[in-house]
Amino acid sequence: MEDSREAILRQLQENRGRFVSGEELAGRLNISRAAVWKHIRHLRREGYQIEALPRRGYLLEEEPDRLDASLLTAEKLFYYTTVDSTNAVLRRMAEEGAPHETMVIAEEQRAGRGRRGRRWLSPPGKGLYFSLLLRPAGVAPEEAAPITLAAAVALAQQLQRETGLPVRVKWPNDLLVNHRKIGGILTELKGEPDRVEYLVMGIGINVNQEHSDLEELAGRASSLYLEKGEKFPRTPLFLGLRSKLLQGCRQFFLEGFAPFRLSWRQLNATLGRRVTVSWAGGSQEGLAVDLDEQGALLLEDDRGKRHRFTYGEII
Ligand code: BTN
Repeated sequence: MEDSREAILRQLQENRGRFVSGEELAGRLNISRAAVWKHIRHLRREGYQIEALPRRGYLLEEEPDRLDASLLTAEKLFYYTTVDSTNAVLRRMAEEGAPHETMVIAEEQRAGRGRRGRRWLSPPGKGLYFSLLLRPAGVAPEEAAPITLAAAVALAQQLQRETGLPVRVKWPNDLLVNHRKIGGILTELKGEPDRVEYLVMGIGINVNQEHSDLEELAGRASSLYLEKGEKFPRTPLFLGLRSKLLQGCRQFFLEGFAPFRLSWRQLNATLGRRVTVSWAGGSQEGLAVDLDEQGALLLEDDRGKRHRFTYGEII
């Protein structure tokens, strides 16, 4: 099955600029024309743009950007083509003893997850989906919590540098461009009340998604491509993000959140605006006035009463 698909792709690649008939492909591979069509549809779902014309056949117009496995070979870095969720894979690896700073990246996630049980659309050839395992020594869960904010700062700065786009952070862990979400972070923690055993930080970045890839999220979500009008090769983008993220996490475990607070405030798309913070048990409206040294959001309600949020999200 897989082999026939690859063989069809090779035929189309070797015949770039001209149509190859379904009959020819079927004959060469000794499969039916219906089977050829099925493979073509699958290739299209993977991001290959293939024109199909009756009586002429198939023409390969554009190939998707593929993560380059040969460049993703650093120590403690694991590349997969398809996974359920990189967070789930890394949690399983953590349970089997994977070391601090192990990272998993996948071309595609079949069950990508966002916060609060939402799904995270993760088509191949389009976005970046990766997770980082952290095993901080002697750190309590509340001390570790603002690491997601520190990571958001590191990622926003690097994305801004690489794309020239005005990338902003929205509390607690969204990445925005022009008020639309282009990335998110899902951090999961295992530990006891006074000690983190490990953290799995999952990052999703919409890189080359088109409107149709964002489905019902279009409008609120976007991609670097949609905002910039140009596509970005994902492998170098990921390698830059990886090194900036590792550097940020190391600094966070040495110095805490304080060194990131100023940058977070500069990059934020939250403070000074009326927002609604929502959490599992309720919601609160008010003016977002500041982010404190522990990364908590300070909100002032209509009666001037201050509320401090260490969890929840702005909706
Ligand atoms: C959010 O904004 O809701 C967080 C989205 C996090 C998505 C990433 S993609 C890589 C990792 N694996 C997952 O299943 N989720 C995270």
